[in-house]
Amino acid sequence: MSLHKIAVIGGDGIGPEVTREACTVLKVLQNVLPELKLDFTEFEWGSEYFVKNGRMMPEDGLEQLKTFDSILFGSAGSLEVPDHITLWGLRLKICQHFDQYANVRPSRLLPGIQSPLKNLSAGDLDWVIVRENTEGEYSGAGGRVHPQLPQEVGLDVSVFTRSGIERVMRFAFKLAASRPRKQLTLVTKSNAQRHGMVLWDEVFEELKSEFPKISTDRMLVDAITTRMVLQPQTLDTIVATNLHADILSDLAAALSGSLGMGPTANINPEGTFPSMFEPIHGSAFDLVGKGLANPLGAFWSCVMMLDHLQEPQAASKLMKTIEDVCQLGKNLPLDLGGKSRTTEVTSAICDALGD
Ligand code: IPM
Ligand code: MG
Repeated sequence: MSLHKIAVIGGDGIGPEVTREACTVLKVLQNVLPELKLDFTEFEWGSEYFVKNGRMMPEDGLEQLKTFDSILFGSAGSLEVPDHITLWGLRLKICQHFDQYANVRPSRLLPGIQSPLKNLSAGDLDWVIVRENTEGEYSGAGGRVHPQLPQEVGLDVSVFTRSGIERVMRFAFKLAASRPRKQLTLVTKSNAQRHGMVLWDEVFEELKSEFPKISTDRMLVDAITTRMVLQPQTLDTIVATNLHADILSDLAAALSGSLGMGPTANINPEGTFPSMFEPIHGSAFDLVGKGLANPLGAFWSCVMMLDHLQEPQAASKLMKTIEDVCQLGKNLPLDLGGKSRTTEVTSAICDALGD
């Protein structure tokens, strides 16, 4: 069993609060499963680093990260630095330079967790959203011209390439094939956006024949929001563009209990670069320093990290423990209707892991 080197970037807001808890949980898991060998290195990069150094990470930051097997990330975004700077200086920089083109976001209503949807029980909502993660609406292409004049122009150009679409779709088809229902839904807006989105539809149609065991359908992004709310049982794996899946995954997380639960894997499937794992909740300024953040999204992201590191036993043990603690319901954080502080949730998980 090899040693996995993990780079930990807590970043901003509640990010460091939840990655610290995640490391605590992983260390306990390591004690319980002696074959699991993890080594953590912390990087204090983010907005505070920016205020002191004028950049979100050192110039050779990517070079430093390259030597790791995985990255555990907290959040980027603070009140002091504009969001587009924090985002492009750290998280997006890592995603793009490390070609982490598949952003995987599972949402599952766990036993013991209440969905805001009436009468929804565990098992009724079990989705994985695959978000294209390196191009599309987040390509960074565009510009500003005629500054400060009434005719000032701001352009954000969505860039969709056949190769970029194909690779993320192949990833989504394979992921759908690994799930019991073998079902993949393509989300676009190809009625109104008649170039890139139509290309998405065409590539999907071409790839379908390679995956005959997968049942497929196509939805427009506006229409799928109502299906997510009204018929959640009819969806399984979803593939969508960077922006569409960004929006849908927040909705998915809320419907499965809370944004605080949502995990993410930014995957470089070829393994050329490290992949990065993070909760989707972001900085949550209102919670910073209060000890009330929900660490479960970070823990669930660690499950995804362990899976990616090919440690299936550790991954399923941690996931089962998260499920058990939720089902028991005694140590739920505030956003899930409980009363527990961040560290109390962590202790409940650690105690349960030791059993
Ligand atoms: C997410 C977040 C980020 C994104 C923000 C912080 C820019 O919303 O991970 O979903 O859109 O990528
Ligand atoms: Mg988002």
